Amino acid sequence: MNKLLVLSLLATLGACSSRQGEVVADGAENYERYCAGCHNPGPGHGATMLLAEKGRPVPALIGRKDLEYDYLHSVVRQGLIEMPPFRPTELSDTEIKQIYEHIMAQKLPPAKAEPAKNKAL
Ligand code: HEC
Repeated sequence: MNKLLVLSLLATLGACSSRQGEVVADGAENYERYCAGCHNPGPGHGATMLLAEKGRPVPALIGRKDLEYDYLHSVVRQGLIEMPPFRPTELSDTEIKQIYEHIMAQKLPPAKAEPAKNKAL
């Protein structure tokens, strides 16, 4: 009887500690949480504005195709001038990789359209 109790207790504990059903943030969510505030396109995003001043052709991270994973990883770990570093307890290497993959998977924002020509002419 006692053995049965212990066994069922163990089974319950096992179920509790299982990661099943746990919501794990993916690259897109972590990008939104940790990077978007500074790096999204458009005014009001400090990093984007600074990188535009530095002459990056695509100042936001989304839409860039020239980013190497090793470079992004070391910037995230060490910070860069104005950018704060992230410790492994905040973002694991796997999570940084997923953020990188999310950035690289995004389509370039549509190229600036030519001013519309008057089709009636
Ligand atoms: C508090 C604002 C802030 C946050 C949050 C932030 N960054 Fe940055 N990041 C910056 C700034 C500012 C720069 C430009 C640094 C400089 O050159 O002065 C930068 C630069 C970079 C660069 C270098 C870009 C280049 O062209 O050289 C990469 C890559 C980068 N950040 C990735 C990330 C990623 C990935 C995250 C999320 C995990 C993130 N950043 C979060 C502010 C931020």
